[in-house]
Amino acid sequence: MTEKPANKMWGGRFEMGHAQIMEEINASIGFDKVLGPQDIRGSKAHAAMLAAQGIITAQDATSIIDGLSKIEAEISAGQMVWSRSLEDVHMNVESRLRDLIGTAAGRLHTARSRNDQVALDFRLYIRDRVDGLDAALGRLMLALARKALAHAGTVMPGFTHLQPAQPVTFGHHLLAYVEMLARDRSRLADARTRLNECPLGAAALAGTSFPIDRHMTARALGFDRPSANSLDAVSDRDFALEVLAAASISAMHLSRFAEEIVIWMTPQFSFIRMSDRFTTGSSIMPQKRNPDAAELVKGKIGRIAGAFQSLLMVMKGLPLTYGKDMQEDKEVTFDALDAFGLSVDAMSGMVDDLEPRVDILYAAAGRGYSTATDLADWLVRTLQMPFREAHHVTGRIVAAAEGKGVDLEALSLGDMQRVEPRITSAIFDVLSPENSVKSRTSYGGTAPQNVTEMASRWILQLEKPAETG
Ligand code: ARG
Repeated sequence: MTEKPANKMWGGRFEMGHAQIMEEINASIGFDKVLGPQDIRGSKAHAAMLAAQGIITAQDATSIIDGLSKIEAEISAGQMVWSRSLEDVHMNVESRLRDLIGTAAGRLHTARSRNDQVALDFRLYIRDRVDGLDAALGRLMLALARKALAHAGTVMPGFTHLQPAQPVTFGHHLLAYVEMLARDRSRLADARTRLNECPLGAAALAGTSFPIDRHMTARALGFDRPSANSLDAVSDRDFALEVLAAASISAMHLSRFAEEIVIWMTPQFSFIRMSDRFTTGSSIMPQKRNPDAAELVKGKIGRIAGAFQSLLMVMKGLPLTYGKDMQEDKEVTFDALDAFGLSVDAMSGMVDDLEPRVDILYAAAGRGYSTATDLADWLVRTLQMPFREAHHVTGRIVAAAEGKGVDLEALSLGDMQRVEPRITSAIFDVLSPENSVKSRTSYGGTAPQNVTEMASRWILQLEKPAETG
């Protein structure tokens, strides 16, 4: 076996290269090469600052920055050759820079370490992804709000315990998810605010003796400020954890909606129709139409919430500052953000595609004595009955309907009057699902007029082009 030479980037005091298995466990290039664009952005800002501060010459900075631009182009053209023996994206880029511009490349790493470099790259990457996810969530909310407006008056059963509870409108149901997603977005925005501090210049852990300008690099990279403590800057990954936590909560919301789609798609419910674009067939049962996309959205949450757990476990026992354990922060985070982004987009597609089956929904809304509360409320309003007593009287009327095997609407006035003689035929006005939803005009209630107003407001807000901050 021929002996490998030591790593040329840090191998000054090393005589031998790595064992095969060491290279395998140590190298991160297989996954951190996605940080290439962020690594280059950071290095350009660093080089410009070093020159501005007179730490390197303007000439060296120019050739470094030009070289980095070439590498950037190579990466985006898929021409960059990544080498595992160079371990990671940072050393691959620097080594390529040396091929391109020669010794000046060696000046780029002045007043910097891979510790602040990776903290920077990872932050930039997550910030970019958060911005993309925010836009994707906005598109999903808009799709939901538009469908809600179209179905502001479509009556469906509302459930508690998955038992028919009270009639609601389809639009109102969809707008519930718009509210949840709005909170998800604001959680991501909160996380973004806190992550927007620049770790570059913390160097290995203690800062540097070079007269760097951390405010300059922070500004150039779009950060609000440089991080205030160099040890903290290189050692924490709470910014990634926060985003993963926010993504997990949001994925939970998507998963609940996906489960409803699965239920609604069963022949037993038949609440919605979904086209061939978002369903699959079975290889053995010709009659099947399976809601695979919705099922996968439910399935993906395991990876997303799992990534949060995984990173939390990586971090929990680490003494300050950097430890190589932290290299494990990336794969799970990349995978989780990919899975989450895919789920959001798939959900948008499904929302556009699905159509409620209006007649089936209406018929289902009337089953299960779903307007019993309306009946009780009528007794309270018209007969000034205390609600508790009205509840009891209604219960007896429901029992009478159950005994006859009919819905409340189909029970005769005589049957009702046998339970409560003061009931008049006016009661029938409140027993239809349609009138039931129309009456729910309290703020945040399901009445079609409320839904139309709320959906329109959301659409107006979501169609506005994003303000650039
Ligand atoms: N590949 C490393 C990581 O992902 C980069 C930082 C390496 N730093 C070090 N001191 N070995 O964390």
